[in-house]
Amino acid sequence: MEIARDVFGDSYGVAGRYVDILASRGVDWGLIGPREVDRLWPRHVLNSLVINPLIASGSRIVDVGSGAGLPGIPLAIARPDLTVALLEPLLRRARFLSEAVAELGLSERVTVVRGRAEDHRERYDVVTARAVAALPKLLDWCLPLVGPRGQFLGLKGESAERELLDVQKTLRKRRLSGEVLAVATPGTNESTWVVRIR
Ligand SMILES: C[S@@+](CC[C@H](N)C(=O)[O-])C[C@H]1O[C@@H](n2cnc3c(N)ncnc32)[C@H](O)[C@@H]1O
Repeated sequence: MEIARDVFGDSYGVAGRYVDILASRGVDWGLIGPREVDRLWPRHVLNSLVINPLIASGSRIVDVGSGAGLPGIPLAIARPDLTVALLEPLLRRARFLSEAVAELGLSERVTVVRGRAEDHRERYDVVTARAVAALPKLLDWCLPLVGPRGQFLGLKGESAERELLDVQKTLRKRRLSGEVLAVATPGTNESTWVVRIR
């Protein structure tokens, strides 16, 4: 995909290898639906980068419920300044992630943590999650992982505004503020709604 060359620059080759892994082992291991293969670049890999401009240089990130590595692996490929933890409870998915990280040469900056968010005790500059749970539950899991002056960035669908209303009480109690940003996926007309909580 032409736009992907511009977006990934020098890392385009690594991003292409990741897409190949998703299209082969990702499908064989049941992490990616066979019908997704034709739209891996726009719908999954480029879509993962919508939060890229919101992440400060040198940030430590955790991708909660990373699955096949989304959004954590595309972010790590596009941003050599980031340190990324991929948090995933399921054994098969965690194994997939460890193999992909090693094959893509990302092991120095990307770690795979097998576990559930609610059992994890580290703190990060950025806590992100894509397609994991509705906001009330997701924030119960994710807010304890946000470090001082850190932020939560959730990739959501059209329900983002409504979900944000559902957590207003929690945010007020913790003296946090939330907003929904509509961001276009690079190279597509599709919007992703990013819930940002600081
Ligand atoms: C629908 S998948 C989404 C995967 C990926 N983020 C994506 O966008 O393709 C949801 C993932 O959340 C993980 N998950 C479920 N409960 C979790 C929990 N309590 N803590 C961390 N991850 C969890 C699941 O194992 C699964 O891999």
